[in-house]
Amino acid sequence: MPENKEIETAGEIAKAMAQRPGALLPILHAVQDELGCIPASTVPVIAQALNLSRAEVHGVISFYPFFRSQPAGKKIVYICRAESCQAMGSAALEAHAKQSLGIDYHQTTADGSVTLEPVYCLGNCACSPSVMVDGELHSRVSAARFDELVKA
Ligand code: FES
Repeated sequence: MPENKEIETAGEIAKAMAQRPGALLPILHAVQDELGCIPASTVPVIAQALNLSRAEVHGVISFYPFFRSQPAGKKIVYICRAESCQAMGSAALEAHAKQSLGIDYHQTTADGSVTLEPVYCLGNCACSPSVMVDGELHSRVSAARFDELVKA
């Protein structure tokens, strides 16, 4: 979407929701749902609609890892870093994932295919280590299985 259209869309969302109590977070979710991310260029219109400073809006976006300023890859891969998964080898799985994809958490591969994110418990502790790919949960994921999931 062209930048001016993104700004226009974010401005319409922000204006429509500005009167709600605690409107900033719902607006940011709505903008990200609509645009796939919250581009830096949309921060001024969101701030204006809520009578906040750009720094305040930017501060909230950067506080929550869920919000992204760049579009995610085609596939979003979450690796669980919570206790049970750690006990079952998720640290080694993370290291493998980062090395095989050539990226760190919160980054996207150069070809735009995969974004890697950490998550803290997917409610699948009995089948650790757990990975979620595009909303689908996978259990007892080995390095080889991880590669299959990412390539699928
Ligand atoms: S600790 Fe990983 S799913 Fe619960």
